[in-house]
Amino acid sequence: MLELDRIVAAIAAEMKAAPDRGKVADYIPPLACVPPSKFGIAVVLADGTCHLGGDAEEPFSIQSISKVFALTLALGELGDELWRRVGREPSGSAFNSIVQLESESGIPRNPFINAGAIVVADILLGRFRPNEVIGNLLRFVRNLAGDESIAIDEAVAHAEHQTGFRNFALAYYMRSFGNIRHAVEDTLSVYFHQCALAMSCHQLALAGRYLANDGRNPSTGQNVVTSQRARRINALMMSCGHYDNSGEFAFRTGLPGKSGVGGGILAVAPGIASITVWSPGLNEKGNSQLGSLALERLTQATGWSVFEPRPDNYA
Ligand code: DON
Repeated sequence: MLELDRIVAAIAAEMKAAPDRGKVADYIPPLACVPPSKFGIAVVLADGTCHLGGDAEEPFSIQSISKVFALTLALGELGDELWRRVGREPSGSAFNSIVQLESESGIPRNPFINAGAIVVADILLGRFRPNEVIGNLLRFVRNLAGDESIAIDEAVAHAEHQTGFRNFALAYYMRSFGNIRHAVEDTLSVYFHQCALAMSCHQLALAGRYLANDGRNPSTGQNVVTSQRARRINALMMSCGHYDNSGEFAFRTGLPGKSGVGGGILAVAPGIASITVWSPGLNEKGNSQLGSLALERLTQATGWSVFEPRPDNYA
């Protein structure tokens, strides 16, 4: 326990001092204002113990990390039927790429690239209006984290709407194949608002516990998803969670992880811990530069990896 505190503190100190911090995303204007000096880390163990470092309590824009929660809800709504409209293969392309959609008939490669997440948002609209879906998503993450203060940053959602030309293109293109079934404005309203969720590393790591705990939220005892579904979401995070950087992330950390252009990464050590890191500067693939390095340091120090048969879990 004390050992894990020491590891987390050492990582936070190293990352706070690191000179090469990557480049903060600026294509969504409010994200460009976040200081690159920020770094936070939160490790929540299966028994609920939290180990926090740096700016772990400061909310940031979770962006594409929200795709994990939206997928979880959509699978709850539609079950495995969802896989008729979204694939399960890594794309090997950038998060906002449109190229594969033409040859693959408007079926996105996976639910974590933008095109896939837009289809998931469209699926969530099934029986609801956009405001209801956004409310359901917000309630879902608040419930997972046990924290009613979690909110959506309306300024970020608005800026995404104003600048999201690529997402509009993806949505209209998929609509031409019949894989977007609602008005594009409605589908993208859901998508932009989910991306604009603001959460701290601490809140996000708490919300991710069900993925580390066989689908169960350990603090409420509630089965959020079945254990098989939790494993499958983790498999997708590992194979597709970092876009065309997913192989590199798996190679370096050995853990399922989902990144966002706000600089956050949610990673899962199954049976052991839910982990969030945040550093706003991104690498050339749009993933947090120091966040990935911090997770590499953590997994090296702890031995946590889905490929490690008997990890020393410090619990
Ligand atoms: O749609 C977008 O471009 C953003 N709202 C989310 C992209 C994102 O986070 C990609 N992740 N690395």
